[in-house]
Amino acid sequence: MARRSKTPRWLEAARRRGTEGVPEGGRADWLARALGRAGVMPRASAEAAIRAGRVEVDGQVEVEPFAPVGPGRVVRVDGRECSLDARPWVLLFHKPAGPVVHGSDPEGVGTVFERLRAVLPESLQGYEWYAVGRLDRDTTGLLLFTNDERFVRHGTAPETHLPKRYVARVEGRPGEVALQRLREGVALEDGLTRPAEARLREVDAVELTLTEGRHHQVKRMLAAVGHPVVTLHREAVGRVALDVAEGAFRVLRDEEVAEGLGFRVEQGSV
Ligand code: URA
Repeated sequence: MARRSKTPRWLEAARRRGTEGVPEGGRADWLARALGRAGVMPRASAEAAIRAGRVEVDGQVEVEPFAPVGPGRVVRVDGRECSLDARPWVLLFHKPAGPVVHGSDPEGVGTVFERLRAVLPESLQGYEWYAVGRLDRDTTGLLLFTNDERFVRHGTAPETHLPKRYVARVEGRPGEVALQRLREGVALEDGLTRPAEARLREVDAVELTLTEGRHHQVKRMLAAVGHPVVTLHREAVGRVALDVAEGAFRVLRDEEVAEGLGFRVEQGSV
């Protein structure tokens, strides 16, 4: 059932206990999420483990998944001490056509999270993975995942302007007039698009590099200039290009994340 309250659940939990459990500095952090980002276990498993009484904080069993946790707490799962220090990771995944980039999957078509988990080694299974932005179900190509919500914000914030390079096979044969309109900005119902790079790769394939990421943007832009998209593939984000087979992933090196995506990874900083 949909939740009616807009108050974050960690804050509701903190209020129920008074202010005592709220971390210093007001950072919104709660037990199940902290376990997921630190790679102890993904959030849903952490919530179940906490509710089942398997998790202790500072020697007390904690059954509230949204209990606020601050630094310095000693957390044990099944009696074993776990560090909540999180190491930020960014994964590059080659999305196939088909799965949705959503946690929920009412149509049962499969999600990218399931596809990613199916190829992750044991050492990366314990993390909660967030997709950085969206690709449509039928779009293939480069999709980033991370355990660091700050990287999600960096990768999706309109002001970051990370370039994203797509190749779209389209209906018809786009000419210079259509390409020029794509470059200069197309009037969509949510406003004019930012200047983009556009060139023809083949008579019916357009390479389009955008520095924003609105909903269905490539499809809407190409439809607006008279060339609806037939297939869409993302080749690169920032200076990071797709270099793994469909359905496969790899871990990006810290230098790739810094130089290619403009985000400095600091150990234990998530
Ligand atoms: N633009 C689209 O239209 N679809 C995508 O999946 C990505 C960008």
